[in-house]
Amino acid sequence: MIHLKRMPLAEEIKKRKTFGIIAHPDAGKTTLTEKLLLFGGAIQTAGAVKSNKIDMATRSDWMAIERQRGISVATSVMGFEYKNLKINILDTPGHQDFAEDTYRTLTAVDSVIMVIDCVKGVEKQTIKLMEVCRMRKTPVLCFINKLDREGRDPFELIDEIEEELKINVQPLTWPIGMGKSLRGVYNLYEKNINLFEPSKNKRVDDLVSIKNVNDPELEVHLPISALSQLREDIELINGVYDPFDEKAYLSGDLAPVFFGSAVSNFGIRELLDCFTEIAPNPKPRDTESRIIPPIDPKFSGFIFKIHANMDPRHRNRIAFIRICSGKFKRGNNYYHVRNDKRYRFSNATAFMAQQKETINEAFPGDIVGLYDTGNLKIGDTLNEGEKSLFKGIPSFSPELFKEVINLDAMKSKQLEKGLKQLMDEGVAQLFTYEMGAKKVVGTVGALQFEVLQYRLLNEYNAKVNFSPVNIYKACWINAKDKNNLDAFIKDKYRHIARDKDDKLVFMAESKSWLQMVEDNFSNIQFHSISEF
Ligand code: G4P
Repeated sequence: MIHLKRMPLAEEIKKRKTFGIIAHPDAGKTTLTEKLLLFGGAIQTAGAVKSNKIDMATRSDWMAIERQRGISVATSVMGFEYKNLKINILDTPGHQDFAEDTYRTLTAVDSVIMVIDCVKGVEKQTIKLMEVCRMRKTPVLCFINKLDREGRDPFELIDEIEEELKINVQPLTWPIGMGKSLRGVYNLYEKNINLFEPSKNKRVDDLVSIKNVNDPELEVHLPISALSQLREDIELINGVYDPFDEKAYLSGDLAPVFFGSAVSNFGIRELLDCFTEIAPNPKPRDTESRIIPPIDPKFSGFIFKIHANMDPRHRNRIAFIRICSGKFKRGNNYYHVRNDKRYRFSNATAFMAQQKETINEAFPGDIVGLYDTGNLKIGDTLNEGEKSLFKGIPSFSPELFKEVINLDAMKSKQLEKGLKQLMDEGVAQLFTYEMGAKKVVGTVGALQFEVLQYRLLNEYNAKVNFSPVNIYKACWINAKDKNNLDAFIKDKYRHIARDKDDKLVFMAESKSWLQMVEDNFSNIQFHSISEF
């Protein structure tokens, strides 16, 4: 019998880097993911990674959406080995209506790569995603994509990132031309240039090592106009930026910037090599009672995503757990803190490139898919018996609100069950009013209502409509003094609801009214996220 040598936990942790790729739709997230897998050797051909985008043209084609959901399970996590590291990429939905899903996925990563289109610059969705990263101090690397197109001036682009995303930036590569006149990128970090040759399949770079930007060797490779522009740019960059500060990157205060063209495999190696060197390993995580370091020998983890099987005959779901500490072993009994119960997980899957495979063990930073029959919900903690929940998976106030209207009184039970299970999955947020038990659903985008309506009917046989309600924001409330809170609830009883975890929420009708209420009740705290 072969005995495989087991690595100590510390070695396993040092091997792992878990990150997410985020972008405004169409910036090139799917293409970059695929190219990272290609460079990492995890896949052999381009075109293997499917976009999980929901095409607006097929919006009403639910079969297509179902297919898309299938794809997004396959591409939810992609692991690969590179330079003796185990790299886990977590995919995030591109469609902004599912932004909440993206926010949650970001709780499970240790860093992110943000893709920005060099023609469009910083876009709306990028700003929102960056806010979430800033809140958690997640280290961010920027990749400015589509250099093969006539994009904006690179200085203008990095200034825009700094201003709009409110983060200090530092270019680590620099483009030599753009669009038709793209000649290559200069690597400020390793001091070499990578010459551009448009090729979709090329994986070997044309690297020229140089001492610095004044090296005469450059004259052999670049036309004089491109070279003098590069020298001018680099002089300016060297005058503005201090040497790269890795600590500032790791604390989320500085974003290194790379330039490239994902579709032409260009500038990817620079990004990947720097990522593998500087991106953080699994970090300690906060629970209600203590901070758990990954090296803690006891297993712990939290559920950040649930994927349901849409076929009502097979109502199993896959819950994605991020391992935070210790070693996960398939078949072990683990403690479910919220339910105060132990469950055995004999069916556990890991994700390598495009493959799902059963695994026997997993380590901090890894994402494991657990088959679940309805016991797990987003935010749940599993561990070896400690009665303490992981923090940091809050709900954000939705942007759209509608009241659920039951169209078939005979199916109330089914509706109740469907709503509960779909909320556990994070399809939308449900607020139940204290008075009259009115149910209001909150979402980030209109498409979520359609998904909810469709799934309630198809999976639970519950027919609903949604009717408009006048709500601007859901604010989670608390107060130091319980008497003040009770007085507030009494005064505003028509506008008080409970969220899925039974937390108190004030449903504000307008911005100005919320402001007035906040001013009038200064002893009440109003929060736009559920964790405070
Ligand atoms: P997303 O996941 O962020 O939404 O973006 P995705 O990778 O799907 O890319 C969006 C579009 O941008 C695709 O074109 C893709 O080919 C293109 N693209 C990605 N990287 C680059 C790049 O470096 N240069 C250029 N010029 N284009 C790039 P599409 O027409 O929507 O799809 P396809 O038919 O090309 O697949």
